[in-house]
Amino acid sequence: MAIELPPTLQARLDALPAGLRAHVGRVREIARDLGEAHGVDADTAELTAAAHDVARHIPGPRLLEEAERAGLAINAVERYAPVLLHGPVGAAWLAADGAIDDPDVLDGVRWHTTAHADLAPVGQVVFLADKLDPHKSAMYPFQQSVRDAAFLSLPDGILTFLDGALRLHIERGELVHPTSTDTRNALLLAAAC
Ligand SMILES: [Fe+2]
Ligand SMILES: [Fe+2]
Repeated sequence: MAIELPPTLQARLDALPAGLRAHVGRVREIARDLGEAHGVDADTAELTAAAHDVARHIPGPRLLEEAERAGLAINAVERYAPVLLHGPVGAAWLAADGAIDDPDVLDGVRWHTTAHADLAPVGQVVFLADKLDPHKSAMYPFQQSVRDAAFLSLPDGILTFLDGALRLHIERGELVHPTSTDTRNALLLAAAC
């Protein structure tokens, strides 16, 4: 059963294109299931999932403008691919709305594309739930291995995803966001200690 969302967030969701709304709906359900598997409050996981893509439909040039207006640091990879800013911009919007003040929820929105070494469990859940949308199975051919790992261990799930995505980026000659690399290194170091 879906939770009732803050009215400002519901209004942002209602303004999204239908395909994106459907993705968010699937991610909400997966986040509840994955949260429950790891003792993360399912309502908070669903709230974070509901909020994660509020800026995903915004074109790149406007995402850059919004990030600059919010005073966000913008790195060279983000300038080249501004879609990577939709999490940070969405988090800035939600903080400005004032309806969500839980820093773990805002961080979960902010870092849902790249992951982050300091993500709280709820942010880890939503990072993974976003990648486990069945409609992304063609985009991530290694998705089943992420699902298998994620329901056993959130860090292992994130590492499995980042490894798979890194291989794809290298095969295609694509840039890698430095925060994803930092996160992968942090997870490997934590596992080694
Ligand atoms: Fe997203
Ligand atoms: Fe998403």
